[in-house]
Amino acid sequence: ANDKGLIRDSWERLGKNKLPHGTVMFARLFELEPELLKLFHYNAAFSSVQECLSSPEFIDHISKVMLVIDAAVSHLDDLHCLVEYLVNLGRKHKAVGVKTQSFNAVGESLLYMLECSLGPAYSMELREAWVTLYAIVVETMSSGWTE
Ligand code: HEM
Repeated sequence: ANDKGLIRDSWERLGKNKLPHGTVMFARLFELEPELLKLFHYNAAFSSVQECLSSPEFIDHISKVMLVIDAAVSHLDDLHCLVEYLVNLGRKHKAVGVKTQSFNAVGESLLYMLECSLGPAYSMELREAWVTLYAIVVETMSSGWTE
């Protein structure tokens, strides 16, 4: 119960515009797994991380990711509502060439972003709460690979 409060408060603390935070998260992700850049090619392949991070299509993807996290945070009491959506989202990511192992780096990047954005409000308890929520989201998305 306290976990939910920590998650809701911290997400709200990031402010209404989540894009800058999502950009920090993906910049970190490309540091951890540079090969993921290749999976984002809307018209042509990006020649650099900077080019990718500033392209409108990729910025849209960042917004989409933040919206999914937002949906999870808003449905902490009834995450089962999101299962069908998340399994399908997993299926789409399988189709674009994402491997489930890459979600570890995504999780690391999410925690990195929270730590950067929250500063001293980022506690071990908060970290664990997010790890638990993220694990549920990823586990659900991952069933889109195997079914
Ligand atoms: C769509 C890649 C992680 C949410 C896509 C697309 C690509 C992609 C190539 C299709 C093009 C586009 O819509 O921009 C990746 C990669 C990821 C990743 C390489 C990291 C390994 C995530 C995460 C979430 C997410 C963590 C949310 C939790 C979405 C959504 C769409 C999407 C909502 C649109 C799906 C639709 O068209 O219905 N992703 N993605 N992605 N991604 Fe990701």
